[in-house]
Amino acid sequence: MKSLTITRPDDWHLHLRDDAFMASVVGDTAKRFARAMVMPNLKPPVITAALALAYRERILARLPSGLRFEPLMSLYLTDNTSAEQIAKAVQTGLIKAVKYYPAGATTHSDAGVTDLSRCHRALEAMQNLGLPLLVHGEVTDANVDIFDRERMFIDGQLKSLISNFPELKIVFEHITTREAVQFVSDASPRIAATITAHHLLLNRNALFSGGLRPHNYCLPILKKEPHRLALIHAATHGNVKFFLGTDSAPHTRDTKQSDCGCAGCYTAYAGIELYAEAFDAVNALDKLEGFASHFGPDFYGLPRNEDTITLESKAWTVPLELPFGEDQLTPFLAGSSLRWRLKD
Ligand code: DOR
Ligand code: ZN
Repeated sequence: MKSLTITRPDDWHLHLRDDAFMASVVGDTAKRFARAMVMPNLKPPVITAALALAYRERILARLPSGLRFEPLMSLYLTDNTSAEQIAKAVQTGLIKAVKYYPAGATTHSDAGVTDLSRCHRALEAMQNLGLPLLVHGEVTDANVDIFDRERMFIDGQLKSLISNFPELKIVFEHITTREAVQFVSDASPRIAATITAHHLLLNRNALFSGGLRPHNYCLPILKKEPHRLALIHAATHGNVKFFLGTDSAPHTRDTKQSDCGCAGCYTAYAGIELYAEAFDAVNALDKLEGFASHFGPDFYGLPRNEDTITLESKAWTVPLELPFGEDQLTPFLAGSSLRWRLKD
């Protein structure tokens, strides 16, 4: 196949950061995606509807001219999020989800939830008002092996969350294990999952190939090959429960290449192309459109996009660095050759 035209995709899980940092990355997403679910883990986090609306205005103000893009806002769940705050969020019409970070699970999650039982009222309001919960599904117990944290979350938290709030829509974000694939596949239609391109393309060997590879470090951490294969199977078989969420998470090069490097891969520079690489590798490009452009909006009850994008098969090399605010970042797969690229 030489070119592929699909309905314009959406990114259902994206970190844009803020201010000057955001200005250097938002165009990458807006060139490819019509909409993105913007994560609220700023510092300080986006914990109220008013903060989310103000963040949305800053995003739109930083959009390069000529690009159309709709940021879908999310609220950061805390132990203190009230039912009133949830109602306010829904009333705006611009806040489409609430994000649950277990406190300490990942970047800027220290203000996250210490115990889900504290969030009963907020979750009840979300269930009643139809506002989905986006879950960072990892347990935070330091005694649990880092490669087991997602698997343990399913039995430890997700099952009881679902039985306590059976009507709540839940997206299990950036899943990385075959256990998560199985769980979501078997669950009710109200439970879906996003899958990143980096978890489709790499297994955990990529963290240590020839040396320590900080630019492949993300959370949840890359897993063994059988898990990657389970994700590939989930994404490429037309299952409506699995859809695209890049989790593109830019950090400056220095904060990743450090004594205590940050988690996150910057993939938005090729946010759809990287998925095309993964689908192409298993001859499943015909399944890309459903995964990237249909199943997400269908789950959220939003219209599918009406315009299209075209990808062409033409090899190119990923740059070694990209500007990021006053600084630089190292993009995911820097220096590698990719086969697919976006046609202008
Ligand atoms: O790798 C990650 N980076 N995982 C997350 O959950 C957060 C993200 C970030 O914000 O950098
Ligand atoms: Zn994320």
